[in-house]
Amino acid sequence: MTGRSSYLIVANRLPVDRTIDPDGTASWRRSPGGLVTAIAPVMQRRHGAWAGWHGAPDEKLEPFEQDGMNLIPVALSAEEVELYYEGFSNATLWPLYHDAVAPPVYHRTMWDAYRLVNERFAAAAAEIAEEGAVVWVQDYQLQLVPSMLRKLRPDLRIGFFLHIPFPPVELFWRLPWRKDLVEGLLGADLVGFQLPGGASNFRRLCRRLLGLPYKGNEIFLDDRVVRTQAFPISVDFGQLDSLVREPHIVARAKEIRSELGEPEHVLLGVDRLDYTKGIGQRLEAFGELLKDGRLRTGEAVFVQIATPSRERVDEYRRLRDDIELQVGRINGEHATLGYQPVWYFHQSYNQEELAALYLAADVMVVTPLRDGMNLVAKEYVSCHHDLSGALVLSEFAGAADELRQAYLVNPYDVEDVKRQMLAAMRATPHELARRMRTMRRRVATYDVDRWASEFLTALESPASEPATRHSASWRSG
Ligand code: ADP
Ligand code: G6P
Repeated sequence: MTGRSSYLIVANRLPVDRTIDPDGTASWRRSPGGLVTAIAPVMQRRHGAWAGWHGAPDEKLEPFEQDGMNLIPVALSAEEVELYYEGFSNATLWPLYHDAVAPPVYHRTMWDAYRLVNERFAAAAAEIAEEGAVVWVQDYQLQLVPSMLRKLRPDLRIGFFLHIPFPPVELFWRLPWRKDLVEGLLGADLVGFQLPGGASNFRRLCRRLLGLPYKGNEIFLDDRVVRTQAFPISVDFGQLDSLVREPHIVARAKEIRSELGEPEHVLLGVDRLDYTKGIGQRLEAFGELLKDGRLRTGEAVFVQIATPSRERVDEYRRLRDDIELQVGRINGEHATLGYQPVWYFHQSYNQEELAALYLAADVMVVTPLRDGMNLVAKEYVSCHHDLSGALVLSEFAGAADELRQAYLVNPYDVEDVKRQMLAAMRATPHELARRMRTMRRRVATYDVDRWASEFLTALESPASEPATRHSASWRSG
């Protein structure tokens, strides 16, 4: 143990993943996903500790330092990876919380593993945290940790942030373990959500399931008050903004366009290969534009970067097959010698290459069927200081609440996606600049530092007295 900490992040994943190369040597690479993108820069500036899984099964590692962060690995066995991570977290909670866009599975063995692993994370946090420390628990994989940790360490200030949507009561109600999960979250002093709708879904659920009164943002327990509030997460705007001004990134962006054959329009999708992201819907729209002749041969290319994700979960396997079939079909039907309409990469890239891709793209296409926030949309906006570029954005992404000047689409409506993609391609530079300017102002103001400091300030400020509960309203919030 590297000493105790006054400020601790607890997340399923550490910011780095341990990978074992075919020759047996171990190396570290950045973990996938928006949680790590958001929390890593905040932690680098605030010097705390981060407890999480290092991405490899059956391996116990000692705490270590990396990029100014004090990292504390929490071990998972291969069976726990299967039941807790791939199972309850990603085959039950993930689809259920995303509007059940894929059918969630309900298995008692997965639930048992979830509870056991949550206990392990709570015990690790209890051991690391200094007297009176602030502990910030992250995301759906660890919803039982707040109450488990409070039992072990009532002296701590405990925050929880959910990075994904919190579903409506009617959907959450399906969960056989609904009461345990809600009670788990209520162990926190502050429960944060991406959007106000998630926070109010949670308050209503607490009232219906547990009979707890609430008033405004506060839920009244017998002896404590739990605050619930929306904190829309964001990106490191300043860092991206200066990165894309560097000459080697500008040069790489030019090179990418030339490697793509200098088309008039470069459309780009960047996602984990996840069924919530609506990758198939956007490819379908692009394919139809080619088929209808509304896009000329050679006029536009679609670059889809799809990071490998959760590859042993059935739904993700099927999705990969579906997308790869679809890409093959579009290219088969519309390619000519010298023109390939869709460029598909099932790979991860470093931040510099991604920044160059964002800079090279005329139209960023972000079409999730449901998404807590979607940081890719905010990253794209952060990279376009020259006010070029258009963002096509799903109404079902949390980011649509803030980025109202995007070309907003309903991803279930293929004609709408086609129309907005075309509108984005045909817009005048003046129109694009008008939209991009407003979106950049928003992301620059509400960047990830502001997100973290607003959450931590709220966590450290006192809530109302439990006595106030008598005046709490029973109305819907
Ligand atoms: P999610 O958290 O569901 O994956 P977000 O859009 O919020 O979705 O965050 C995704 C993060 O992962 C972004 O920071 C994005 O830059 C990064 N990312 C996505 N695809 C890739 C890729 N192919 N290579 C490297 N990073 C990626
Ligand atoms: C989303 C989730 C994160 C998760 C990330 C990557 O951002 O909210 O909790 O870490 O996806 O998914 P993975 O399963 O690879 O950790």
